Amino acid sequence: MIFGKTPIPSRRGSQPVQVDEAPADPVNSVEASGLTKRYGDTVALDDVSFEVRAGEVFGIVGANGAGRTTLVECVAGLRRPDLGHLRVLGLDPRRDAQTLRRHVGIHLQQSSLQDSLRVWEALDLYASFYKSPVDWNSLIERWGLADKRRTAVSKLSGGFRQRLFIALALVGNPRLAILDELTTGLDSRARRSTWRLVKEMRDDGVTVLLVSHYPDEIESLCDRVMVLRHGRIVALDAPASLVEASGRRTLEDAIIDLEGGGDDQ
Ligand SMILES: Nc1ncnc2c1ncn2[C@@H]1O[C@H](COP(=O)(O)OP(=O)(O)O)[C@@H](O)[C@H]1O
Ligand SMILES: [Mg+2]
Repeated sequence: MIFGKTPIPSRRGSQPVQVDEAPADPVNSVEASGLTKRYGDTVALDDVSFEVRAGEVFGIVGANGAGRTTLVECVAGLRRPDLGHLRVLGLDPRRDAQTLRRHVGIHLQQSSLQDSLRVWEALDLYASFYKSPVDWNSLIERWGLADKRRTAVSKLSGGFRQRLFIALALVGNPRLAILDELTTGLDSRARRSTWRLVKEMRDDGVTVLLVSHYPDEIESLCDRVMVLRHGRIVALDAPASLVEASGRRTLEDAIIDLEGGGDDQ
């Protein structure tokens, strides 16, 4: 079935109905225009418009409090923007939430699992949420978790914990993966091996939305990066182009200039 961009009218009247399958191949995995979100007096997102192309790794950077998590939560359908228009994989994240959930894998900043759960049990549980999950045994092998299969989540080191969270984000065979500060707190070696996994994800054709603090990570992984400052987009371009436009020598310097101070400065 082919779905247009406009809501499909229901038989009963003008109320839009939920669609139960995502359109096959939208050019853009995310289309956002005019997104605005407030929490009381705090403006977390202020008229944010951007597109994420299918198959790209799209970085979102910004100082703490810039609105990155709010933005990816809106994309995932977990928060409702106050204003603006949003399509994710051709779907409306709120109206088509159930359908979208089948195609989006999420690693949230605040992800947590019951500590006593073992690695294989967590994967088995997550797989049960999806209609056509991948075989989680293959994920265990692929993400180097074979020796940890029976280890309780609480006993995993930071690096293995992140691998498990990536595997959990992928178990539903998603077309879009949202990874919020995936490598924050990891040592350099674990960060590097996590990067390799993200590249493999991209090579498999998954679109990746990557919230990150690290310029080296952005440089290594992202096709394009968006810089948020107090809920507004202050730059959106390929990492090399951002550096060039800034007149600075490194991406880190360019990003620091663009980000300005955050909540904790
Ligand atoms: N649930 C909430 N209630 C009130 N304020 C919030 C909530 N979540 C985030 N904020 C505020 O909104 C702003 C953006 O936060 P967030 O999206 O978490 O930014 P980031 O992920 O870039 O650090 C911050 O000022 C933060 O304090
Ligand atoms: Mg955040």
